[in-house]
Amino acid sequence: MKKNLIRGFEGILHGGDYNPDQWLSRPQILDDDFKFMKIAGCNAFSVGIFSWANYEPREGVFDFSWLDSIMDRMAEAGNNVMLATPSAAKPAWMSKKYPEIRRVNRQGIRDFHHTRMNHCWTSPIYREKVGQINTMLAQRYAGHPALKAWHVSNEYHGECYCELCVKSWWKWLEEKYGTIERLNDAWWTGFWSHRYDSWDEIEPGDWVDGMRLDWRRFNSWQMREFMLFESLPLKEIAPDIPITTNMMGFYETVDYWRIAEICDFISDDSYPDWLGGEDQIIQAARIGMIHDMHRSMKKGSPFLLMESTPGSTNWKKYFRQKRPGVHNLEMMQAIAHGADGVCYFQWRKGLGGGEKFHGAVVDHSNRTDTLEFTAVKELGETLPKIAGISGSSSSSPAALIYDWEIRWAIDCSHGPGSADFKKYVDTCVSHYRQFWRNSIPCDVIESLSPFDSYRIISAPMLFMLKPAVAERLVEFVRNGGILVSSYLSGIVDEFNRCIPDGWPGMGLRQLFGVREETVDGLGPNDKQSVRFSSPIGEMKGDYPASEYCAIVHPEGAEILAKYTDDFYAGSPAVTVNRFGKGYAYYIGARLSDEFHKGLYSHILSRHFGPEMKFFDFPEGVSARVRGEAGREHLFIMNFNDREVSVNPPAGFAEALLGPPLSNPMKIPAHGVSVLIK
Ligand code: GLA
Ligand code: ZN
Repeated sequence: MKKNLIRGFEGILHGGDYNPDQWLSRPQILDDDFKFMKIAGCNAFSVGIFSWANYEPREGVFDFSWLDSIMDRMAEAGNNVMLATPSAAKPAWMSKKYPEIRRVNRQGIRDFHHTRMNHCWTSPIYREKVGQINTMLAQRYAGHPALKAWHVSNEYHGECYCELCVKSWWKWLEEKYGTIERLNDAWWTGFWSHRYDSWDEIEPGDWVDGMRLDWRRFNSWQMREFMLFESLPLKEIAPDIPITTNMMGFYETVDYWRIAEICDFISDDSYPDWLGGEDQIIQAARIGMIHDMHRSMKKGSPFLLMESTPGSTNWKKYFRQKRPGVHNLEMMQAIAHGADGVCYFQWRKGLGGGEKFHGAVVDHSNRTDTLEFTAVKELGETLPKIAGISGSSSSSPAALIYDWEIRWAIDCSHGPGSADFKKYVDTCVSHYRQFWRNSIPCDVIESLSPFDSYRIISAPMLFMLKPAVAERLVEFVRNGGILVSSYLSGIVDEFNRCIPDGWPGMGLRQLFGVREETVDGLGPNDKQSVRFSSPIGEMKGDYPASEYCAIVHPEGAEILAKYTDDFYAGSPAVTVNRFGKGYAYYIGARLSDEFHKGLYSHILSRHFGPEMKFFDFPEGVSARVRGEAGREHLFIMNFNDREVSVNPPAGFAEALLGPPLSNPMKIPAHGVSVLIK
């Protein structure tokens, strides 16, 4: 069944953040904007994201006349507007009159007005003001023909330690734990005399790992709750208009699994580093994983790439311009992985402010023949050709578990090793990359997601086991699933307390048939490798390990590779355990991409054979299929800086985009080929 992002629009949305309120005194510019939007093939705009000071220049004095006119012009032009709520940037008069709306940092210092997204999550006055402006926007534009979605706030993030937020923290803890004894037990507060007697003694702090994790949860809950609050009038007054908010990929402190639950569709902001060479391939896999996560958040339904840039990003180290083809490639990748819209920050570069050098569709020259405008215009001409895929959803045989709470549990634990050792996200990406490089459709799920529809699940560094996760993994393998996990799995419970009966805990020891005694964190003078007892697939010889090496005792698993050095030389490093109808693989050490490539290729061919061999493309090329059955579109994407030769699979009749269909087929550097049946 088709599920379009926006009612009444079939096709791929294309456009960006439009900030006309910065240009109101230059009406000619606004005229050019509407002319240029048509030339660029743009049809979707986020408006009013940071416009509060223009709506309400003084307290209680409102002026929406400029937005009325923009909305009417948008409707006339046939554009789709995602109207923002302006809570991410508060007017200066408000910060001055009501200091309580400004955040307080960990040291107890209240923030200045400056910047944005720096409002308190709890302040009743801020909520009153946000409620009022959101209600006014909803009442004014609910029936407007240009209004197609609500863009709620902008990139929620940050924390506040003001008195109001700390009181809310106590309440949150009380609701969670019920009694202070339960909290003391969960947080192991016997340590350093941290025992609490009442909720109001609990200052947020850093040395109780359970508290640290709960503060993250609380802070993320505050954002979710704020978004719910903001959305109330929108939902009440304009119930048919979907709501979304722009996520930031793997941004550290927001549990987007919980934000996703309250979005009607998922939106993301993405600013990859396209640096060329191997870096570019790793980046492509990482971005692919983020897109797959956003698609998985709504069970395969399309998402929106809300922000990206057609040029370069002002806040990055390298102000590198996109090489020819790269813009098209980046946007096609999002679409191939499930996006039904690709939009930019922003439509037009401002002359001042903090982002005057950030890539945008129209630059300071106001010309339509610049590098950026041309790349956007070319894409605008291309998108209608693949409009048929919009609304299509997909399912995947493989899944990778990436879970914010697991990441927090690792990061909120003191050790093992320092923070820069832990690398949970990078480790997940290195496993995901193996599905990506084999063009195997892969969902990216949280540990609470259902497992039963998958054939293979990768769950690296499954450090924290939330309730029932271990049991469900056991069931998954018992029923024939293939599970791949690693060192530092099954170490703590949901409260960040170590599991006492051996790692990996809660029954995973039996599932993997190994006991992990501890990990050896390699120092600068250590050398360690893993060696296969007999060649496996194409794997032979030694593979260097780095950073973490688990010291493991076999408890029934077959040993695939052993350590080569030091006091644990000869002990198991990589194992597999037959369990029920399935197999559980355990990788004890942090190993290279070459190792993962070999091991996954062995696992995939051993257990699935040709069934999981979707395509066979050169390194740096990844493919995805989208579209309704019978009208599938195959996207072949070349992330290399050089031309590659590919053998297109049988069954595709013509090339819709890219070079004409032939076998072999040459795809240029950064090129994309779209084949159809
Ligand atoms: C974020 C914000 C935008 C803009 C861009 C610049 O994604 O949402 O307003 O600041 O970054 O990269
Ligand atoms: Zn606060």
